[in-house]
Amino acid sequence: MEFSVKSGAINKLASSCTVVGIFEGRRLSPSARQLDKQSGGYLTALLKKGDLPGKVGQTLIIHDVPDTPCERILLVGCGKERDNKENQYRRIIQAIATALIDIHVKDALCTLTELNIKGLDLQARTRLTVQWLRDRSYRFDRFKSGSKRNKDTLRRLTFAVSERSNVKTVRTAIGEGQAIANGMDLARDLGNMPANICTPTYLASQARALGKEFRSLKINVLGETDMKRLKMGSLLSVTRGSRQPAKLIVVNYNGAGRGSSPTALVGKGVTFDSGGVSIKPSPAMDEMKYDMCGAAGVLGTMRSVAELELPINVVAVIPACENMPDGDASRPGDIVTSMSGQTIEILNTDAEGRLILCDALTYAGRFKPDTVIDVATLTGACLVALGKHAAGMLTNHAPLGKALKVAGDSSGDRLWEMPLWDEYQEQLDSNFADMANIGGRDAGTITAACFLSRFTKDYHWAHLDIAGTAWHSGAHKGATGRPVPLLTRYLINKSQ
Ligand code: BES
Ligand code: MN
Ligand code: ZN
Repeated sequence: MEFSVKSGAINKLASSCTVVGIFEGRRLSPSARQLDKQSGGYLTALLKKGDLPGKVGQTLIIHDVPDTPCERILLVGCGKERDNKENQYRRIIQAIATALIDIHVKDALCTLTELNIKGLDLQARTRLTVQWLRDRSYRFDRFKSGSKRNKDTLRRLTFAVSERSNVKTVRTAIGEGQAIANGMDLARDLGNMPANICTPTYLASQARALGKEFRSLKINVLGETDMKRLKMGSLLSVTRGSRQPAKLIVVNYNGAGRGSSPTALVGKGVTFDSGGVSIKPSPAMDEMKYDMCGAAGVLGTMRSVAELELPINVVAVIPACENMPDGDASRPGDIVTSMSGQTIEILNTDAEGRLILCDALTYAGRFKPDTVIDVATLTGACLVALGKHAAGMLTNHAPLGKALKVAGDSSGDRLWEMPLWDEYQEQLDSNFADMANIGGRDAGTITAACFLSRFTKDYHWAHLDIAGTAWHSGAHKGATGRPVPLLTRYLINKSQ
C-alpha cells in the first residue's frame, strides 16, 4: 500500500474518494465544511435527513456530489468533537479502512489528519493512520489455495493537508509509519506461520534473509555446540525434548559507529510450547505456535530500524527452540546450571520461557549494552491481569520504564508497569538449587520477571510480557505485530 501527500484546498483536489469527518450534532470537519459550501449545502441537507448521526466509526458513501472534484465522498462519524482521544481516532481510521477496502477504490484522499486528537500531533496522527490502515490491509492467506485467497486491499492513500508547510512533517510520518508497518508485517507473518514450518532453523533462515535485504544488519547464528561451549545449561534443558535443533540468533545493527554502546533486544523464540513433560491441556494448544512472538517482534523491530537507518546501535539476541515432551525431555525436579553459574530447579517444564531467556540475557551482557529490553509471551497470568490491551512491563531502572511508557502511549501500543519488589523474590526459593523456575500461583507475571531480574543486574533492563498483546484469539485469530510499534518508537526517540 502506498501513501503520499498533497497540499491545497480540498475543493480543488480531484479524487475517486475523498474522506471527511462528521461530528455528532451534524457538525462538519473543516474539509467537510469546504465541500459542503462548494456543493451548495449538499452535505448539511443530507445530514439533516438523519443519514449519519456522526457516532464514532459510522460511515456513508455518497456519489456525484455536485460541483466537487470527487467521484465519491466517504463520510465518517467522528463522535463528539470535544473529547477526541486516541482510541476514538483508531476506531475512525479502522472504519474508513473497512469501508475503503469494501468499495475497492484504487486511490483515496484522506483529510482526517486535520482532526484534533488529544496528545497526538500531526506527525503522530499521520503515522498512526498509516499503521492502522496497513494493519487492516494485512492478510495471511498463503496456505489457502487459489480462490480462497482474499485479494481485496487498498492500494493508495493520499493525505490532504491545507498548508504547504506541513508536507514535510507528513512525509516523515509516512516513512516512519511504513517502516513500522513493514516490521509488523514481518512479525505477524512469522507469528502466524505454523510450528511445523516455523522452526528455530526457519527463524534463523528468516533472519539471514533480512540480513540479505538490509546490508546494515549482520547476522550470526549459534548452534547447540556453541551453546554447550558457552555453558547455556538452562537454554539447552528446554530444547532436550525436541527433534529440532535450537538456535541462538544474533542480529547486529551498527548505525552509530563503534564508540557507542548498543541497546540489546532479547526475544523469546519458543516455536512451539507444548509445555513439555508438564504438558498443557489440549484446548487452544495450537496458539502456542505464537510463543515465538517475542522473537518475531524483535526481528520486526530490527527491520524497521534498518529501514529507517536510525543513528544508533542495536543488537538482537533471540533464543529459539521448541518445548516438547519426549523420553529425553527435562523432568520436573531436574536441576540445571545457567550460563551465569546460578543453578535452577525446574519445578514446571512449562515455565520454559524464563529458562531460555536467562541464558540469552547473560549472553547479551557480552555486547556491553547500556540497555536491555526483553520481550516474551511469558505468562498466561499477564493476560489475566491486563487483558489484550496492554503489555506488562517490569524494570530495574525507572527512567527506562518512563521512556518505554512514553513510546507505548504515542505508538498506540501501550504497556502497564507492574512492581518488581524484593518481597516477591522469596516465592522463587528452592530447597535444592539457587532458585526454582516457578513462584506459585500468586503474581505469576511478577515472579517470572523476578526470575529474569537475577540475570540482569549488570545493566538497565526492562521486561515486556506480551502474552496478552502479541496475538488475538477467537474468530480473528492472528498475530498483531506488537510490540514492534512500541519498540521502534522507543528507538526513534532514543536516536533523537
Ligand atoms: N508461553 C506460555 C505463556 C502463555 C500461556 C502465553 C498462555 C499466552 C497464553 C509460558 O511458557 C507458560 O506456559 N507459562 C506458564 C507459567 C507457569 C507454569 C508458571 C503459565 O503462564 O501458565
Ligand atoms: Mn510454557
Ligand atoms: Zn512458553
